[in-house]
Amino acid sequence: MKLEVHVGAPTTLETPLLVLPWCQGPDEQAERPVANLDPLDESLGLTLTRAVSGGDFRARRGEMLLLYRRGDEGPDRVLLLGVGERADLSAERLRELGGLAARRAGDLRLSELCVSVAPGWLSRVLELRRAVQAIVEGVVLGNWRFDELRSEHAEEDQRVALEHLGLLVPTSKSKENAQTAAKIGLAVASSQNYARELAIRPANIVNPRYLADEARRLGNELGLKVTVMDPAAMEKDGMKALLAVAAGSDEEPRFISVEYRGAKRARPLVLLGKGVTFDSGGLSLKTPQNMESMKYDMSGAAAVLGAIRAIASLKVRAHVVGLIPAVENLPSGHALKPGDVVTSRSRKTIEVLNTDAEGRLILADALSYAARYEPEAMVDIATLTGACVIALGHQAIGLMGSDEGLIQEIRAAGERSGERVWPLPLWPEYREQIKSEIADIKNTGGRPAATITAAIFLREFVGSVPWAHLDIAGTAWAEKATPYLSTGPTGVGVRLFTEWVRGRAG
Ligand code: BES
Ligand code: MN
Ligand code: ZN
Repeated sequence: MKLEVHVGAPTTLETPLLVLPWCQGPDEQAERPVANLDPLDESLGLTLTRAVSGGDFRARRGEMLLLYRRGDEGPDRVLLLGVGERADLSAERLRELGGLAARRAGDLRLSELCVSVAPGWLSRVLELRRAVQAIVEGVVLGNWRFDELRSEHAEEDQRVALEHLGLLVPTSKSKENAQTAAKIGLAVASSQNYARELAIRPANIVNPRYLADEARRLGNELGLKVTVMDPAAMEKDGMKALLAVAAGSDEEPRFISVEYRGAKRARPLVLLGKGVTFDSGGLSLKTPQNMESMKYDMSGAAAVLGAIRAIASLKVRAHVVGLIPAVENLPSGHALKPGDVVTSRSRKTIEVLNTDAEGRLILADALSYAARYEPEAMVDIATLTGACVIALGHQAIGLMGSDEGLIQEIRAAGERSGERVWPLPLWPEYREQIKSEIADIKNTGGRPAATITAAIFLREFVGSVPWAHLDIAGTAWAEKATPYLSTGPTGVGVRLFTEWVRGRAG
């Protein structure tokens, strides 16, 4: 998508569609139009004033009104787009606005739109930079769709993809800020779309080798150092828990590391992503219903690659390492069996009571491997437990960890990015649930607090590095569309990680 920042009044702007964000006032009516919209109103045949002052358009959240030009100058169409009460104006509301605008433009079969954003209109609630970034994110995310596996276009979907996104600011004073922020929004959201693409591609395409090849391709594009371990190298390194999960599949596992050095800092931030390219459960086989959805069990890996893509393309001054254990979890005559005891990379022994609790097994070896980087902090992200969906639904990422400061940082980054996270406790009493009769620990803790006991399990392999764990089982795939995310993979984690790392970089 091409970005352009225009400076000036809406009256003279040549665009097929100008979007005017609009707030509701305290009286629940749309706010009065500001005086400088008079000329635009005139070119619209005074319909703007009539719609707004007459109360037809009340600027409720998501409300839209499309007006057409009468004069010979200015935008062809003007879309009034409600963002709700001024008191609730936030980056998230503007992300929603961007998504709605993109979809409306698509329905109108327009490949171009321009959003007006004025510091005066934002008043003191939001900085222009944050507002512009959020709008661009919303537009780019709302514009995404996946049709590379169709040989012909579905009749009902005649939407046109957006190619040009304009932003209209009133004075040249705002231009530079708007440009910088728009570039950030585009990099972040296109990287989130990249993660969505990886997650939606089926498991016969995205297997562990594919993820490794994709990481190498990304590395070439962005100048990252990428190393890939094959099973022999993993064996040598002692990653027996990871290899045990891979044993049932004919697809070889891969251990992928991606390093971005945008700062001389020796100690990196490490991001670890669960890369189970298909999770059948293994011999503890899942039921057929919805099993196809387990192609997205590599959404953690996708988030890590997407975040590093955004961070590297923005040249953030940070040192970041992404680690991805990639495997397919299938049953076969070679598969890991319930009751087997495996020795992890850390030498801790694990009794595998359920082969469907595979994510924690592969992450155990990845977390212990991460220590070699002496990370400043590390955060793992995984579609780890069905219980997380029960606990938090689809509204928040589950957050757990060993370091209170890090947890607070991630929470704050979640609020800023609109990818909300919510903490769960890791009290010592929960540790009892993963005690094994015959090994150091077992890989399941029963039904109570299953999200927490999974994290308690991971903590055994963390060592002394400040660590946080994100459970995205409920947020990686949307069953319901939101204003800027369609149903399907969400690419969750990309905005959160990028925001966190940018915050750390200062
Ligand atoms: N990948 C699943 C978790 C999952 C479930 C993600 C639903 C997204 C939606 C994970 O590997 C798994 O199977 N977890 C089990 C663990 C249990 C056997 C201890 C679960 O949560 O049921
Ligand atoms: Mn599983
Ligand atoms: Zn899984």
